[in-house]
Amino acid sequence: MHFSRFAAQLSNDAGIISLMEDLGSALGSDQKMYMLGGGNPSHIPEIEAYFRAQMLAIASDPAKFGAMVGDYDGPQGNEGFIRILADFFSELYGWPIAAENIAITNGSQSSFGLLFNTLAGETPQGDFTQVLLPLTPEYIGYADVGLGKQPLFTARKPIIEYIDDTFFKYHVDFKQIDIDDHIGAVCVSRPTNPTGNVITDDELKHLSELTKASNTPFIIDSAYGVPFPDMVFTDATPLWDEHHVLCFSLSKLGLPGVRTGIIVADAAIIERIRNANAIFSLAPGSVGPALVQHAIQSRKLIELCRDTLKPYYIRRRDEAIEQIRQQMHDLPVRIHQPEGAIFLWLWFEDLPISVQILYERLKERNVLVIAGHHFFPGLEENWQHKHECIRITYSSDSESVQRGIEIIAEEVRMAYDNQGS
Ligand SMILES: Cc1ncc(COP(=O)(O)O)c(C=O)c1O
Repeated sequence: MHFSRFAAQLSNDAGIISLMEDLGSALGSDQKMYMLGGGNPSHIPEIEAYFRAQMLAIASDPAKFGAMVGDYDGPQGNEGFIRILADFFSELYGWPIAAENIAITNGSQSSFGLLFNTLAGETPQGDFTQVLLPLTPEYIGYADVGLGKQPLFTARKPIIEYIDDTFFKYHVDFKQIDIDDHIGAVCVSRPTNPTGNVITDDELKHLSELTKASNTPFIIDSAYGVPFPDMVFTDATPLWDEHHVLCFSLSKLGLPGVRTGIIVADAAIIERIRNANAIFSLAPGSVGPALVQHAIQSRKLIELCRDTLKPYYIRRRDEAIEQIRQQMHDLPVRIHQPEGAIFLWLWFEDLPISVQILYERLKERNVLVIAGHHFFPGLEENWQHKHECIRITYSSDSESVQRGIEIIAEEVRMAYDNQGS
């Protein structure tokens, strides 16, 4: 059998593959796994009950059910849903968004695959452009989506602000940001996966100005952002401009199974996404849009996020931090300022083993985390910091998070204690 060059890119060492495999095997395992590795949102009873009621209402209405499962939507996504979204963003933020600015995809992971390969890579003139990640660590899922021969990403190291004995925060190092003709797009996740960082309003504005000046699309991955799921625990203003490409997802609302992503962008970009949907998938799925349509139209979604989802994740975050303080008080651990999303990013300074080895030792003990080095797509320098950080997720059940942190503390302590022996 001869595989194509494309197949060679589907190599098994892609971080996202081991992450999703760990996630699947943890769910299917008959042993107790402490799943601190994946990005699965929590099953929040009130939120699930709400969407379950919506699903029952659709299922008991033959016309609605028939439309949801029996018809292909158009390749840009369900027209009614797109109109509702356009009104939603226009009314909520005063943005001049119309239906031509919105496309639906099969999850925001698909959005990124399509966007990155549309906005960067080989140009018709034979040049090559890249996606600039102005601040790494950045989302592991971007790393392997490039379909061309050359690396699709170029990335920059952050400035590290030490906040106190426990916390630190990454900032964009603007001295390193130069958006020339080789950059096809700039992308940030806000809040950031894996760190829980929320790049500041000033940083966002500055990046927006730089990208505008160079006529470069600026992609803002809002998988955890405002207005939904609103896993933002600090002040953060969303920003729209004609060159912005905003990517939303229904997943972190508790609906990863419906695979729905939303792109808000210039009409020319939306046209490409619509065409790509038609070519690769015929149409995006209809279940997600049908399920959330009412919540968006009635603004109930804002209320659910503000009053239920956000307080829930703040509580889970605080419990995890308290657990780390208790279990790791004697260890040189620092935590990235947890300003959003569902993760804590732990930095073990001068850890005598690489975090890949730590990951393997933890897996032996049924604890799944993600080793930090996966989160630096496009960063060429072999920065030691990459090998000293891990990402843990606090959206798993409380027992898993608690026991998982205990075991991480034991393994890390052993690594420091055995130093030199
Ligand atoms: C920052 C970020 N962007 C995008 C995605 C993709 O999410 P989905 O394809 O489920 O919308 C994820 C998933 O974890 C994520 O963390």
